[in-house]
Amino acid sequence: MKKITITFDGYSSCGKSTMARQLAASIGYTFVDTGAMYRAVTLMAMQGGAIDDNDDVDDSQLKALLAKASITQCYNPTLGQAETFLNDRSVEKEIRSMEVAARVSIIAALPYVRQAMVEQQQAMGRQGGIVMDGRDIGTTVFPDAEMKIFVTARSEVRAQRRYLELKEKGEEVSMEEVMRNLEERDHIDTHREVSPLQQAEDAVVIDNTNLTRAEQAAMLLALYNERMATIEN
Ligand code: DC
Repeated sequence: MKKITITFDGYSSCGKSTMARQLAASIGYTFVDTGAMYRAVTLMAMQGGAIDDNDDVDDSQLKALLAKASITQCYNPTLGQAETFLNDRSVEKEIRSMEVAARVSIIAALPYVRQAMVEQQQAMGRQGGIVMDGRDIGTTVFPDAEMKIFVTARSEVRAQRRYLELKEKGEEVSMEEVMRNLEERDHIDTHREVSPLQQAEDAVVIDNTNLTRAEQAAMLLALYNERMATIEN
């Protein structure tokens, strides 16, 4: 059976990764979380002194770090999900922190960072059989993808989900902090010059505010089967 490319885009914490991961697992495709890649670059910038306390970026330092960086994702059977590595070190926990979340949209708006990440993402998807989630996947990374999903959810629901996720990981955060961070990131992500977050014209929109995991999994599988039926006929 032909292996296609499937893209998921949408606002922060709207559940895209969960949906993309669910679909990838049920059809045996590779799942790529591109937000994790931008988070890993942000962590590298923070640890390598390329972004200061005022969030000013030292471009030449960051370009030098990027040139020798290796960012990979591998399935970890113990975690039951993909794990992100920066220069062969697992950074899965660190990249989910509020410190990284507070700076990632600044780093992700830099054109040279986007160019480097988009090139890597396109290389990963060259063979098809991939489910990739992010902000510009259906518009910039794979504008010709056979199946595109744009995910939305009510903002209070998104903030609540993110808050619980951070709490579960032991982060000391308030609901207000999480809400502010989501709003700031959504604003920067939709207003940046290079490939801002936009809904692709040919994307199917799914609002998962009131959907259970099982319902959304069933809906995605039905969409995939429908799409495959049209492609193969
Ligand atoms: O999906 P996430 O919250 O882990 O993404 C982290 C940040 O990375 C988000 O604020 C926007 C940015 N991002 C992006 O600009 N382009 C992508 N394809 C994926 C994420």
